Amino acid sequence: MRNPYHEFTAALLLILMACCWFACATDGFTGSYVRKAKKPKDMPLDADVFMLPPGYNAPNQVHITQGNIDGSAMIISWITNDEPGTNTVLFGTSNYNLSFQAEGRVNQYKFFNYTSGFIHHCTLKNLKFDTKYYYEVGIGHTRRKFWFNTPPKVGPDVPYTFGLIGDLGQSNDSNITLAHYESNPAKGQAVLFVGDLSYADNYNHNNIRWDTWGRFVERSAAYQPWIWTAGNHEIDFAPELGEVEPFKPYRNRYHVPYKASNSTAPFWYSIKRASAYIIVLASYSAYGMYTPQYQWLEAEFKSGKIDRSETPWLIVLMHSPWYNSYNYHYKEGESMRVMYEPWFVKYKVDVVFAGHVHAYERSHRISNIAYNIVNGNCRPVADLSAPVYITIGDGGNLEGLATNMTEPQPKYTAFREASFGHAIFSIKNRTHAYFEWHRNDDGVAVIADSMWFYNRVWNGIHDSV
Ligand SMILES: [Fe+2]
Repeated sequence: MRNPYHEFTAALLLILMACCWFACATDGFTGSYVRKAKKPKDMPLDADVFMLPPGYNAPNQVHITQGNIDGSAMIISWITNDEPGTNTVLFGTSNYNLSFQAEGRVNQYKFFNYTSGFIHHCTLKNLKFDTKYYYEVGIGHTRRKFWFNTPPKVGPDVPYTFGLIGDLGQSNDSNITLAHYESNPAKGQAVLFVGDLSYADNYNHNNIRWDTWGRFVERSAAYQPWIWTAGNHEIDFAPELGEVEPFKPYRNRYHVPYKASNSTAPFWYSIKRASAYIIVLASYSAYGMYTPQYQWLEAEFKSGKIDRSETPWLIVLMHSPWYNSYNYHYKEGESMRVMYEPWFVKYKVDVVFAGHVHAYERSHRISNIAYNIVNGNCRPVADLSAPVYITIGDGGNLEGLATNMTEPQPKYTAFREASFGHAIFSIKNRTHAYFEWHRNDDGVAVIADSMWFYNRVWNGIHDSV
């Protein structure tokens, strides 16, 4: 028979632990580092990172992204400027013998008075896992060769290291962010990009700035997949120029494997990579009840397809953050939070990465799902089933840093700092992952903020302080 005294003592202990945790969780931290106040300067059109590669019809803006659900396919994209050329990709596991061949497709689009180059997309399929592949494009004219590594086969304890970059743009600071990411000793194997790529819309939608951005990031994006999320700067809705099709340049240039996850549009989709299940959401496509994105996400969660014994780590990418204590973009993510946050808690999302706010911020594990109009419970509370929310919109674009913060620091936010930088999310096994944020002003190995993540399903104890 149970001893009621023991039960009372146990309950008291639990309450004390919960109180202690919440007390700890209220000690938010604002980085004391003072960054020099200088607005980013855009790199000029003749900057070396924007140069066309030499040779007739040379492929440029080469980039790759995952091409199917499990990472055994890769989408190779490139642009030729003089003529369409071939859609052929030669590839193989030996640098000297590209024994396989795949055929892609070419497309072109017009935007106001701009006509794009010839945009090629080709999916390489049935790749071996955990293997280095070499590939060559520009067959028939000027050939260019690159390489990539496929991820390990999907499995629960497969280590994998993701880089995190957001709101990159094409300023001198953007260049520093990318250089820091490339030289980070943590060695990211794929980039989770949380939206706002080129900022071409800030140049009156001059699509030449889409081209320069593509050439700028090629030095990374041709060698490791960048997993794309659409931000507001991808919308390119410009009725004053007669351009009313949202996302036209982005959709033509950056293909993603959305059909593989039963999505009906390239702005929301999911993939598995190593031990992670990654859901990409669209802040700027309809997400309310009955919409295609809502129905798709509901099926993602409720169909049982997210198997945490196969992919323990559940990561969500979106552009507009739900939790943000800077005085920018206030409430822009709020209605999506109201719609989807109960699922994130119920299905134990480990971490949500967002951009949009040009700064860095990391939350505690909190939720705000109790409010029902009449009960008044409208504040975020500590919740061990909830994700950590990280804003990583600090890539360095020309709009500058978000320096103005709400004061005092809200209790739900653990660390915030207005500096440019990038982050790394390094999965060790099914229970542990290490997150680190790097500010551009430090040496490449310096970690300015960090957190050991404990997986919500396999190790769901407190970890966010
Ligand atoms: Fe944005």
